[in-house]
Amino acid sequence: MLILAIESSCDETSAAIVDMSDDTRKVLSNIVYTQIATHALYGGVVPEIASRAHCEAICCVVEAALEKASIKPDELDAVAVTNSPGLIGSLLVGVSFAKAFAYAHSLPLIPVDHIKAHAAAALLENPKLYGDYTALIVSGSHTSIYHVKDYTDFREIGASRDDAAGEAFDKVGRLLGLSYPGGAAMDKLAEGCETQKYSLKLPSPAIADDSYDFSFSGLKTAVINHVNSLRMKLSLASGEPLPEEHRKEIAGAFTASLTAGIVKKLTAALDRGDIAHTPLVLAGGVAANSHLRKALGDFAHRNGLKLYMPSLSLCGDNAAMVGAMAYYEYKRGVTAPLSLNAFASGDL
Ligand code: KG4
Ligand code: ZN
Repeated sequence: MLILAIESSCDETSAAIVDMSDDTRKVLSNIVYTQIATHALYGGVVPEIASRAHCEAICCVVEAALEKASIKPDELDAVAVTNSPGLIGSLLVGVSFAKAFAYAHSLPLIPVDHIKAHAAAALLENPKLYGDYTALIVSGSHTSIYHVKDYTDFREIGASRDDAAGEAFDKVGRLLGLSYPGGAAMDKLAEGCETQKYSLKLPSPAIADDSYDFSFSGLKTAVINHVNSLRMKLSLASGEPLPEEHRKEIAGAFTASLTAGIVKKLTAALDRGDIAHTPLVLAGGVAANSHLRKALGDFAHRNGLKLYMPSLSLCGDNAAMVGAMAYYEYKRGVTAPLSLNAFASGDL
């Protein structure tokens, strides 16, 4: 089944052509146009600017996806689009484009949830990964653990009660003078944090109860307080950067605490039988983090679990993952009429 997939939930405009069947999962093209440089000027995503940039980019991005895959619209079998969750103005650009395209070419329209799509990224590269697994989705807006059954049935067993892990990475990165989004640069700055013993002690994001929930806001606030008192102690002028050794210690201690908190909750869930010995999928933008990948690799190895992590190009927002999820939604009969709407918050 040849699917044109469209993703525009935040600050990436993406279109992909995927060829999916019960035993084929092929990405024929996956074009991602990122608006990061524009939003970096403001230190974060400006929703109004994001919507306009999607409007400007979407036709070229879809044309490029078709051209790269050497596919003509009349060869397609369906159009898929992310319709929740995300920035409403951004989502509406992709949804409106997909509706017009589906109508013009008489194609079925498949709505896709962005979080489910992140998990489905792992399916694209792993033909032996089937529909029953535990998914840990760690992105700029979500940090959640799900039981996944039959590809499309997602049951949340734990989630962040406040900030997402990616949001915390970006805020701490900004505090350390890194440009938006700070996640990837924080990854480098925290090099070696797995083995370092830091004198800086930070709170765990694993909430101290029997749930599998997280709080990343407490961790972030502890870093803000530490940076403020350090700046006073070192008598730094406003705008003057922290010395490199402090920046490295902060990034390292933050990353170590974040990864340890996630592993702690996964261990508790596994020990209590609340996650099964099914494969584990780590996905979402923060799944690109080398320290988190290593920590989950060790966790999976210790517990005899098979771990699947999309390659870095499929961790961040992209349309191929939307196409992968769309195939399984379509198979269970999910299509949308042309009255399809977009929703800022999703209900898996
Ligand atoms: O999934 P995603 O592309 O967008 C959302 O759906 O939110 O995730 C973006 C997030 C950003 O917060 C970004 O800083 C973070 O993923 N990120 C990373 C890394 N690469 C991207 N965080 C930590 N380490 C990385 N290597
Ligand atoms: Zn995402």
